[in-house]
Amino acid sequence: MRFNTKSSALLRCWGSRFWRSRRQQQCPLEGPFWSCFGGARPRPILDMSYSRHFLDFQGSSIPSSMKKLVVTKLNSNFREAVALRQDAPVPLPGDGDLLVRKRFIGINASDINYSAGRYDTSVKPPFDVGFEGIGDVVALGLSASARYTVGQAVAYMAPGSFAEYTVVPAKQAVLLPSVKPEFLTLMLSGATAYISLKELGELTEGKKVLVTAASGGTGQFAVQLSKKAKCHVIGTCSSDEKADFLKSIGCDHPINYKTENLGAVLRRDYPEGVDVVYESVGGKMFDLAVNSLATKGRLIVIGFISGYQNPTGLQPIKAEMLPAKLLKKSASIQGFFLNHYLSEYKMAMQHLLTMCESGELVCEVDLGDMSPEGKFTGLESVFRAIDYMYMGKNIGKIVVELPNSVNSKL
Ligand SMILES: NC(=O)c1ccc[n+]([C@@H]2O[C@H](COP(=O)([O-])OP(=O)(O)OC[C@H]3O[C@@H](n4cnc5c(N)ncnc54)[C@H](OP(=O)(O)O)[C@@H]3O)[C@@H](O)[C@H]2O)c1
Repeated sequence: MRFNTKSSALLRCWGSRFWRSRRQQQCPLEGPFWSCFGGARPRPILDMSYSRHFLDFQGSSIPSSMKKLVVTKLNSNFREAVALRQDAPVPLPGDGDLLVRKRFIGINASDINYSAGRYDTSVKPPFDVGFEGIGDVVALGLSASARYTVGQAVAYMAPGSFAEYTVVPAKQAVLLPSVKPEFLTLMLSGATAYISLKELGELTEGKKVLVTAASGGTGQFAVQLSKKAKCHVIGTCSSDEKADFLKSIGCDHPINYKTENLGAVLRRDYPEGVDVVYESVGGKMFDLAVNSLATKGRLIVIGFISGYQNPTGLQPIKAEMLPAKLLKKSASIQGFFLNHYLSEYKMAMQHLLTMCESGELVCEVDLGDMSPEGKFTGLESVFRAIDYMYMGKNIGKIVVELPNSVNSKL
């Protein structure tokens, strides 16, 4: 039996969504944690006498320890910030939770913002990292068993996904027909494009939409969803191969900014300006996009990846000119952060999954086959995968495969 007194005690205090993030940051048995309950210990959520059936650790091949990545030092250089732990305990699901054995994990530009502590400045290392994953349910709590069962394929978006196993609140899981990396592209990247363009884009037929980093994880969806709204889509990218990919997904005008002068091309081909910008790059690209806005044009700030590796996380822009530029064109700039639109998330995922399954949407996955050291396999390769993204090499969403090292009986 792998449960000892300490793991039973841990189980008693786990199970609510709120504490999930806390337990990634500190041991729940440490002092300040209890004070949040007004000093009283919480009642047991899971009774071990009946939970064994659902957890099924004893008869299964779920190991007691696993590999995971942990931020040990705040730094936007992922290699400096993060260490691979070989023997982290496999977490135990609470009453409403699923234990998911990961098969694929998604790489995001903001992984280095997270490792630099920019998401929550009050959090101190060590803490878990990684935003999303997809895999099989291998154990679950009693309440979670009302909707889920062992063996199902699920995806989820929650911090701490760079681990072989993750506890996911059942309410946050998305049930999938199978474990395919294409589905993972939708969880964060697809949902960002879908919700931001729906809520802020005001896309109508004939509008001109400029997508920056257009062939990347989220850009590919912004291109395709804008085309579905019958817009004319312009996409920026850094190679001819990426431009070919953009053409293949319907982009009307891919622009390789490495070989073409982007500003000159936009002035020449769109003298009236562009109506909507899906802007992910920041710095000079942001300035250029602002200059390219049409009258009543709108720019959605999705990110500013060109600054993430800087100590501040920012890249300078011509901010003092902004008010005058916006006023002259009655143009607007609005930020979008997926976490603030979670009420739209389920609906977005339903639409995206339907489109992906029916082949209406290309969900391009980059598993690193073309990277210098080959396919991204195992948690060790997350470091390479992040380097690859920051070299601007990826086409589509970067995904790391976690091989199933245990001999599962599922
Ligand atoms: N707001 C939200 O809720 C939300 C959610 C998801 C993602 N995002 C943002 O969306 C953007 C794209 O993220 P992603 O995860 O989907 O990444 P990605 O697009 O798959 O990969 C990043 C791409 O950005 C381009 N890029 C341009 N300048 C770069 C630079 N200086 N350094 C590195 N890459 C550069 C590269 O494409 P080219 O070489 O072709 O330009 C690169 O392939 C990021 O800004 C991210 O923060 C925001």
